[in-house]
Amino acid sequence: MSVSIKTAREIELMREAGHLLEKVHDELAAAIRPGISTWEIDHLGEVIIRSFGCTPNFLHYNGYPASICVSVNDEVVHGIPSKKRILKEGDIVSLDAGLIYKGYHSDAARTHAVGEISREAKQLIDVTRQSFFEGIKYAKAGHHLHEISAAIGAYAESFGYGVVRDLVGHGIGTSLHEDPQIPNFAQRRRGLRLVPGMTLAIEPMINIGRPDVCWLDDDWTVVTEDESLSAHYENTVLITDGEPEILTLTKPYDTFGLV
Ligand code: MF3
Ligand code: CO
Repeated sequence: MSVSIKTAREIELMREAGHLLEKVHDELAAAIRPGISTWEIDHLGEVIIRSFGCTPNFLHYNGYPASICVSVNDEVVHGIPSKKRILKEGDIVSLDAGLIYKGYHSDAARTHAVGEISREAKQLIDVTRQSFFEGIKYAKAGHHLHEISAAIGAYAESFGYGVVRDLVGHGIGTSLHEDPQIPNFAQRRRGLRLVPGMTLAIEPMINIGRPDVCWLDDDWTVVTEDESLSAHYENTVLITDGEPEILTLTKPYDTFGLV
């Protein structure tokens, strides 16, 4: 395993890649409404990314055919945008996006409500997001990687949710996926020691029901086996000497009193 430590100049580029991706997500969030197709979301995302002079890093990655992964309801991640898939009131939709800025990658995901959603769905979204913040309490130099994993998993499981085990977060830098892998549940070993300059894409994927997932025949879309709702929340995070710097989130965020 080789984990890259970014130099000051690389961190500057990673930061800009992250800040631009936050803008992409903000614009996509504003576009979510009943009646929009998942294709339109992808198209809008690609146009925004290119308007920044950046490249969508998901497009053609291992043959993935779009720039934004759009996953609805029981779809966990890697949903393929389609003109035929129209969002409707009450759906939840996970948007996973990434871009390359001057050779450096950023990666972030959000799950949104489409119009009014059930209380159960709202809680799933909020807890999934909060599980990320529980995890990054340990994203500090001197802590170990799997402290993040354990904190995410323990928090989500305390609500009775299923933590997806078949997909993990990852290091990120000049490639979308670098070492290390970052599971979202407790591990036997404590994992590597965190060092300033590491950049990590931390991404809990949480199901209302069981943790088990399967793949659709398109070979991309990951769905929950029990067809329960699933949410996803991801940011690209920089390990520093002090608090972690969330490169894809600069706005203040609230925690809904869930902490
Ligand atoms: N954000 C996802 C990840 O971290 C999406 C990449 S899969 C792709 O792995 F094929 F769509 F690019
Ligand atoms: Co990722």
